[in-house]
Amino acid sequence: MSIQQALDALRTDTPSRVAAAADLEQLAAVEAETVGKRSIIAEGRRSLGAVPETDRKDLGRAINEVAVELESLIATRRAELERSAHAAALASDAVDVTLPGRAPKRGTIHIIQQALDEVVDIFVAMGYTVATGPEAETEYYNFTALNFPPAHPTRLESDTLYLDYGDVPEEILLRTHTSPMQARYMEQHDPPVYLVVPGRTYRSDPLDPTHSPVFHQVEGLAVDTDITFGDLKGVLEHFAREFLGPEAKVKFIPHFFPFTEPSAEMHVWHNGDWMELLGCGMVNPAVFEAVGYDPDEVTGFAFGMGADRLAMARHGITDLRHLFDPDLRSMEQYR
Ligand code: PHE
Repeated sequence: MSIQQALDALRTDTPSRVAAAADLEQLAAVEAETVGKRSIIAEGRRSLGAVPETDRKDLGRAINEVAVELESLIATRRAELERSAHAAALASDAVDVTLPGRAPKRGTIHIIQQALDEVVDIFVAMGYTVATGPEAETEYYNFTALNFPPAHPTRLESDTLYLDYGDVPEEILLRTHTSPMQARYMEQHDPPVYLVVPGRTYRSDPLDPTHSPVFHQVEGLAVDTDITFGDLKGVLEHFAREFLGPEAKVKFIPHFFPFTEPSAEMHVWHNGDWMELLGCGMVNPAVFEAVGYDPDEVTGFAFGMGADRLAMARHGITDLRHLFDPDLRSMEQYR
């Protein structure tokens, strides 16, 4: 095939190939083959020197004509492809500013936390300080400093969740109540003390409608020179009225706790029934001794209440498990 024939074939075939190039990359390939360095056009130009003088001009012109024609064909197609690539990019990146925004999902404070906050607020209004303590606690603060005898049954693993901390001098457990903060706080602060301690507590209980291995308490402690059981009753009755309403009725039933003497449970009349709300009592002198207070100089009362129960009472929930249900619809009912 002569160069002229090859040029003719190129001229005939190329327009459909250029038109068929679906993107810039395919077009570049067609360009390389048809007018690029290894194309028949380049080859023809390189061979011109060997062509007899008489034919050289004509052939040179023919090659240039084809080259110019094909290059302009390719340039047109390239502009076309660039336009549509640009349009496609614009379309895929398009932001429709007229669309309504997506409102972020608003959370709420869990009703247990709401109850904890409210309880704390009521005592802060009476001049109490707030402190929190560790949930992983030593056996000393959870039991011993609070006058639990060494063999007290709640120290057993059947009631208390112990942590395996390896080689440590003392047993570490998940605190079974917020009372250890009584001892911790008194060790660090001189009397008078007016303290509330909200927090999470743990016991080895299976989850059922009235029990949970994780629950929440608010501890209270008042220590001063002349605190009486009458003060305890007045403060706790005031609390019940603030939290449950001015009609709230309370009663105190004798009870036993190693760290208070005498001790009581306070029940409140709620929704036609008595509900046990908290344990309380006058701080046992043995606890004052354990923390370095002089039991002849100070007296005090302490209490510990279940916040989960308060939240349930407030919202008419009868099954404790609803409080820990990870399905948001459970909690969204109680905004
Ligand atoms: N710590 C007790 C409990 O968890 C409650 C309590 C606290 C009782 C303070 C008396 C004084 O049951």
